[in-house]
Amino acid sequence: MTPQTASQSNEALCRLAPLIPVLVVDDIATARPLAEALVAGGLPVLEVTLRTPVALDAIREMAQVAGGIVGAGTLLTPQDVTAAKEAGAKFGVSPGATDRLLQACEDADLPLLPGAATSSEAMRLLERGYTVQKFFPAEANGGVPALKSIGAPIPQVRFCPTGGVSPTNAPDYLALSNTLCVGGSWVAPKDAVTNRDWARIEQLAREAAALPRS
Ligand code: 3PG
Repeated sequence: MTPQTASQSNEALCRLAPLIPVLVVDDIATARPLAEALVAGGLPVLEVTLRTPVALDAIREMAQVAGGIVGAGTLLTPQDVTAAKEAGAKFGVSPGATDRLLQACEDADLPLLPGAATSSEAMRLLERGYTVQKFFPAEANGGVPALKSIGAPIPQVRFCPTGGVSPTNAPDYLALSNTLCVGGSWVAPKDAVTNRDWARIEQLAREAAALPRS
């Protein structure tokens, strides 16, 4: 898969909802009901971070949920790419980008949303053909003003800002012309998942799905 094709694919995913939930799954029993609640609330695109022992199994479980499109986050190595693909991930997300990781995703036909934190990183990815990128860590990197500033000289790159995005600042990101959607974990609070409060999570998803976009 070329970087151009990966970018087109991820742009389509980013247009499905204003938020891609970033999920850390600790208990495999919660994976499916969590995905069902988020999809029912209007958030079909889900990122499961490869940060827990059950993450790959969680992707397998969530991939069964009708209407959901499940990807793997925190991809760092070619081995992560192979494992994510084998678990059924439909897309990948990485905090940054290395040549090895980019090549592995291109070889495996896994559309990667690669992370960039600076203009140079965004330019380097653009040179390779990635026009859709993750701005990470968004708030720590200067937030909305920084992303807006990057958009002035490099308008052809569109972003999914992630990291410190909240219901409060999400509308400001979503109003930027170079933001397609945002990523964030706030729709799956740890206590709600632990308490299996799926109704609360569905409601949080519904509110996020209703965030206005430019
Ligand atoms: C992460 O690193 O887990 C993601 O960037 C999500 O960050 P958030 O918890 O600030 O939304």
